[in-house]
Amino acid sequence: MLYPQNNHTRQMHDLSGFWQIHFDEDNSGAFESGFEGGEIIAVPASWNDQIVGRRDYLGIAWHQTQFALPWGWRGQRIFIRFNSVNYLAEVWLNGLRLGEHEGGHLPFAFEITNHVRDQDNLLVVRVDGALSVDRVPPGQIAGKENITFGGANFPDTTFDFFPFCGIQRPVLLYCIPQQAITDVTVVTEIEGAAGIVNVKTAHTPGESLSTRFTIEGHGAFQTAEGVDGGGILIIPNAAFWSPGSPRLYQLTVELLREGVPVDRYTLDIGIRTIKVDGDRLLLNGEPIKLLGFGRHEDFPVVGRGLLPALIIKDYGLMYWIGANSFRTAHYPYSEQMMQLADQLGFLVIDETPAVGLFFQEPGLARRNELCQQYIRELIDRDKNHPCVILWSLANEPHTSTPEARRAYDSRDFEVIAHSSQPAAVEAFRELAALARALDPTRPITLVSWEGAVEESWQFVDVISFNRYRGWYQQSGRIDAGVQRLAQEIDAIHTRFPGPFIMSEFGADTIPGHHADPPEMFSEEYQTEFLSKTIAMLNSKPFVAGQHIWNLCDFKTSQGVIRMGAYNYKGIFTRDRRPKMAAYRVRQLWTGRETEDEG
Ligand code: GCU
Repeated sequence: MLYPQNNHTRQMHDLSGFWQIHFDEDNSGAFESGFEGGEIIAVPASWNDQIVGRRDYLGIAWHQTQFALPWGWRGQRIFIRFNSVNYLAEVWLNGLRLGEHEGGHLPFAFEITNHVRDQDNLLVVRVDGALSVDRVPPGQIAGKENITFGGANFPDTTFDFFPFCGIQRPVLLYCIPQQAITDVTVVTEIEGAAGIVNVKTAHTPGESLSTRFTIEGHGAFQTAEGVDGGGILIIPNAAFWSPGSPRLYQLTVELLREGVPVDRYTLDIGIRTIKVDGDRLLLNGEPIKLLGFGRHEDFPVVGRGLLPALIIKDYGLMYWIGANSFRTAHYPYSEQMMQLADQLGFLVIDETPAVGLFFQEPGLARRNELCQQYIRELIDRDKNHPCVILWSLANEPHTSTPEARRAYDSRDFEVIAHSSQPAAVEAFRELAALARALDPTRPITLVSWEGAVEESWQFVDVISFNRYRGWYQQSGRIDAGVQRLAQEIDAIHTRFPGPFIMSEFGADTIPGHHADPPEMFSEEYQTEFLSKTIAMLNSKPFVAGQHIWNLCDFKTSQGVIRMGAYNYKGIFTRDRRPKMAAYRVRQLWTGRETEDEG
């Protein structure tokens, strides 16, 4: 799905600003033609922390705004695009229903060419934030205690972050020509010093249409006429893309009618390759180690809302600490976050919103359908980003039978046959096949907590494992925890050879709380926990990545294991202040001890 842009053939107009919101508590209303007396809300942003008294409201909320059609757009094809609405959106324009979209964190758009007026347009969006067993991520599950730890929590999620909802990313009006470029897919290869750029495009049908491709940057300028909408450009002595040197080229795609350009789309591309070779992840043919974090899009007041200055802050913190990567836990991040990862040179494990999955009824078929929808939408949105090196099919699906999970740990990680529920294995067989069909160029992973009994790891290229030994297990005993973790990841690697990413490890830490000797929740404990775990991970050649959980503290649901409804495993606080561990991790990842070493 092409991101809207401004040039001499296309225009976009951002509808961000102050809208009105009406909370429809008993779902009484049909407000598609607008409502009176709403409260003012800033869009984009979640409503939960922004509107006083509405933190825990996850019901129906109607949003509305007015707009005029920008001058000169009439005669073009006109669309409205939502970059993210969580959880379910229904949209009307001037009282006419445009459609709906289920699932937050991924974009959707409707054509409004024949419905939009020159003036006084009323856009109405009904947002439904409810948790449910037949939604992904799921919630409101009976008998949850045998699916996930933590037992009762409020709101009743099966995942460990607050279910913020609302219009959380920009709403964009945009126009394109009657005959336009509708899709671009870029795949890059490297041959010696040359970069090979394969471009495939789709465009609206029409007589005497052709395509032309131009690549500019780093002293190169190459043009090629398209054949059936496709083209190959070879850049001799190309500047390759990598975290150390994120060199981008500008690709321009033109749609020509009888040789005259009628549409034009430009995008930044990076010439790089990503491949699995035995136990190694190869970027541009060279082994890489991912150093970084699992994160969240989360901040006071805006909730999960887009905050450009925070994006800049977080990249600055990750650069300062020596990270080269992150995982978009547990949902796709904003287009702005992805564009900056390309520009600044961060490797991204791009994860769908499939978190907290379980494989019992009710709702199983619907949850599987949504997981497949999300993979399609995610790959369609992010397929051209050089920063994306792995697709993550899900985070911590509860795939094993409870008895298998209980037996696994007590029998020293012995593999128990048929430990995964058949429904889980089938679901991930299909999801992996779908991801490969949609994008055969990138390896895929599944982030699991089940350990060596995770049968669905047979379908992926890279193993991603979450485990908190020294925290949830071997609590208070860091050395014992690290030792058991070393044994466990050896057992996993024996059963599932290939690159291994420790995708989550961490310890809750109350900023300013100290203890000597270190004890749980103190800054000293987090520092020792991370240092010793990292040292062990560094000793294993098949460990291709270490992602600390989490970059920053973040908001969760309420429960006895989440003080103040926060997860405190950040090495920075929620307002981005460093804890003691941040300095130690910086030293471990960069070798720099203090500021004066640059
Ligand atoms: C899990 C999960 C995270 C969660 C973390 C924790 O591994 O993936 O979403 O926040 O554990 O318990 O801190």
